[in-house]
Amino acid sequence: MIVLHAGFSVRPMQESDLDAVLEIENAAQPTPWSRNIFAEGIASGHDCEVVEKDGQIAGFQVVSRVLDEAHLLNVVIAPAFQRRGLGWALINRLIERCEENDTSIIFLEVRKSNTAARQLYEHIGFNEIGVRRAYYRSAEGREDAILMMMELVGHK
Ligand SMILES: CC(C)(COP(=O)(O)OP(=O)(O)OC[C@H]1O[C@@H](n2cnc3c(N)ncnc32)[C@H](O)[C@@H]1OP(=O)(O)O)[C@@H](O)C(=O)NCCC(=O)NCCS
Repeated sequence: MIVLHAGFSVRPMQESDLDAVLEIENAAQPTPWSRNIFAEGIASGHDCEVVEKDGQIAGFQVVSRVLDEAHLLNVVIAPAFQRRGLGWALINRLIERCEENDTSIIFLEVRKSNTAARQLYEHIGFNEIGVRRAYYRSAEGREDAILMMMELVGHK
């Protein structure tokens, strides 16, 4: 368990966390992941973590790694815990771990309309490198994804 700040800590996600994780996912995402996607993420060895305080899960992130590349697949902070620096802290923790294990690049996709997440990623230092047309389902049909990356060589 790693202490983040203000009593919040981070630990690996377990199957027994999935009720709470799904509640947050359903509350915060327009097209939420299913229980199976999370369960497969844990089973396949993705880097799945929850952030919690006093036993209450406040958010999570899911990262896949292939060779020296990491892909941030999902990061969510429960609406009641947003704007307290937790998203920032989780992603900075990911960057630190990537630096420790010689990961050279982190990729992610984000909805074009997702101002909060785009601001967060830009603020942390991710750069836009492309657009995946009609990548996400949306209320209107489909929505573009912005592809972002951070190179870690020399990031320290
Ligand atoms: C994106 C998300 C993870 C941010 O988590 P958070 O803990 O609320 O973010 P933080 O408090 O760490 O914010 C860090 C910075 O991100 C930006 N930011 C976060 N929320 C924002 C918002 N609603 N509007 C504009 N900028 C925002 C700001 O630059 C902020 O810095 P500041 O507070 O000093 O202005 C959260 O809004 C969320 O879970 N959204 C729904 C799920 C989602 O979209 N996930 C990303 C999928 S790609």
